[in-house]
Amino acid sequence: MAPKSFILFTLLTYSLSFPTISAVDYYVTNLAADTPGGIRFTNEIGIPYTKQIMGTINNFIWSTVFQQNDPSERNPIDSVNVYIVEFDGAEAIEWGGNNINVSSIYLKGYEGDLKWQFTSLFYHEMTHCFQWDGEGHTPLELVEGVADYTKLIAGYAQEGFAKPGQGDRWDQGYDFTARFLEYCDGIVPGFVAKLNKKMRFDYDVKYFEDLTGKSVNQLWKEYKAKYRN
Ligand SMILES: *[C@@H]1O[C@H](CO)[C@@H](O)[C@H](O)[C@H]1NC(C)=O
Ligand SMILES: [Zn+2]
Repeated sequence: MAPKSFILFTLLTYSLSFPTISAVDYYVTNLAADTPGGIRFTNEIGIPYTKQIMGTINNFIWSTVFQQNDPSERNPIDSVNVYIVEFDGAEAIEWGGNNINVSSIYLKGYEGDLKWQFTSLFYHEMTHCFQWDGEGHTPLELVEGVADYTKLIAGYAQEGFAKPGQGDRWDQGYDFTARFLEYCDGIVPGFVAKLNKKMRFDYDVKYFEDLTGKSVNQLWKEYKAKYRN
């Protein structure tokens, strides 16, 4: 009796005194502050706004996308580091598990609402920080599809994002795969959260069948049939 209540008391005290035990710190560094893109970042987005959306997006990913209310299910990273850097060839790149480099050249050239587009980009890139990828065994196209799925359900799908039913293959990647995942989520509520959970240590295409009772090819056929006109 006594030891049990002591343990309970200790646990309660512990969780009460460390309410932010699973908090993530966000760091943003503008290494291109003197370049046109870096200046545009400061004027139209800024470090405070970036940190603010990182918190919002982080919580959205845990609570809504992956439904990881139990912190032990989450990818245990304690910080996400963002660098605004001068590089060409991509909008942004996630690396090392918890770092995001954003291209100042991309920021400079973007035509339109840069702040909105930056937010959309962060829904995608931050998903890479927190998603499970089967210890590297999940196909890259599915990894990218999950990242775009976050953007989609957050209401940040950019103009030109695939429409439901578009695409030639379920693993075409990005927005095409995101739309397919959205469909799977309609069949099995929380599908993406469940799939992500299964991909913690490994990947098998059979996970689709485990969760829905149908093979991924069958699902894709029915998905395409649903939107055929
Ligand atoms: C991202 O930028 C940092 C800071 O300049 C650099 O050290 C790192 O190598 C870059 N990562 C990639 C993948 O380009
Ligand atoms: Zn990506």
